[in-house]
Amino acid sequence: MYLGLDLGTSGVKAMLIDGDQTIVGSANGSLDVSRPHSGWSEQEPAHWVRATQEAVAGLKAKHPKELAAVRGIGLSGQMHGATLIDAADKVLRPCILWNDTRSHVEAAALDPRFRALTGNIVFPGFTAPKLAWVRKHEPDVFAKVAKVLLPKDYLRLWLTGEYISEMSDSAGTSWLDTGKRAWSSDLLAATDLSEEQMPTLVEGTAQAGKLRAELAAQWGISGDVVVAGGAGDNAASACGMGTVSDGAAFVSLGTSGVLFAANGSYLPKPESAVHAFCHALPNTWHQMGVILSATDALNWHSGVTGKSAADLTGELGEMLKAPTGVTFLPYLSGERTPHNDAVIRGAFIGLEHESSRAVLTQAVLEGVAFAIRDNLEALRSAGTGISRVTAIGGGSRSRYWLASIATALGVPVDLPADGDFGAAFGAARLGLIAATGADPIAVCTPPVTSDTIEPVASLSGAYEDAYTRYRALYPAIKSLAH
Ligand code: XUL
Repeated sequence: MYLGLDLGTSGVKAMLIDGDQTIVGSANGSLDVSRPHSGWSEQEPAHWVRATQEAVAGLKAKHPKELAAVRGIGLSGQMHGATLIDAADKVLRPCILWNDTRSHVEAAALDPRFRALTGNIVFPGFTAPKLAWVRKHEPDVFAKVAKVLLPKDYLRLWLTGEYISEMSDSAGTSWLDTGKRAWSSDLLAATDLSEEQMPTLVEGTAQAGKLRAELAAQWGISGDVVVAGGAGDNAASACGMGTVSDGAAFVSLGTSGVLFAANGSYLPKPESAVHAFCHALPNTWHQMGVILSATDALNWHSGVTGKSAADLTGELGEMLKAPTGVTFLPYLSGERTPHNDAVIRGAFIGLEHESSRAVLTQAVLEGVAFAIRDNLEALRSAGTGISRVTAIGGGSRSRYWLASIATALGVPVDLPADGDFGAAFGAARLGLIAATGADPIAVCTPPVTSDTIEPVASLSGAYEDAYTRYRALYPAIKSLAH
């Protein structure tokens, strides 16, 4: 048996698979995000541990025998978070998360020097500018930083007692030489840090610690349990979806929205705001476009209207409609690809008396679909052609949204057959590979497609017009943001 643990933004998911990769069961623990100021987004690492305990306890209640037989654990996690610990492993402040944009001034200052080696824009959500912000605004905290850990690597410290990270998540720190898959001591020095403050690096498929005896006993496991390097949540999802060889792509509709493509070589193009990161498999890289609010945009609309996301999308029916004159820009906490703009905020444009709740819901779904189209164009400009995508994430439960995305992108969207092939599954696969030495490519195969959602040809002209309108709006409102 193998256990995948995915530390997401809204919760931790624990998934058990057997040696044939059949899913035995899964359970969740929930998490909240604290937003003390506009653009800030934080979580207490202690809550990650609590949510992981909750998820594993859920599994233990349903599958005690199978949990007892676990031999490998894989970790996946929300990327980029700055978890700062002192020499006694005490957490120094709440973790500053991936969608926190407070450090945009520091990011812009680091960017010119960092781009060439990291292959990426220094986005405010990445880890290095957060440390530059802490150095400036919380110097006492900065002075005590003994280690900087990414969220899942903090979980690893709790699970194994080891300071270890792997390439895919570390590529999102802005301190990694992404082509060489190694920390850059020059870039670390530019933020007054050194390699001693960083975890040791391994590949995602490698062994990276053993489960502490105390936790193994608590969970009813006897014998050694290997913990794999694991991956950032997007690379972990890619392992779950079999998006590991050149040309394969997926769209993830989670809190963030991601258009992900696997690459056989390192293909940076920072000027397009595409992320070029190491993959979780050795000698493999990937590109992705990232939007900060995907299901987060629908959840915001749900909060305002007091209707659940499922009720809101249900009101639209199954048949895709032509865009109305109402356009939504999903920049609720700024945007990464393609704008790299931390201060821009969202908008509804074109409201009229007839603009009902359903019209606004439609505009929200279309706005996210157009933002993903922006990502497709960015990936194209970075040399990656995408002819079809597989959809994952909570948002992919809405057929309407998938039809909207297929039509906005002009490519078919595949839905995996029943099952959950996301980050927790990918993490479990990495746990299996690290524990058994199995061939990663043989393990990370794509799921069977249950259904394909084709672009709606009769609406492609109307969607193209609406996308052109959408594209024109960002430059038009940019100067109003502050
Ligand atoms: C990727 C990113 C997000 C988080 C979400 O660069 O910031 O997709 O990983 O968990």
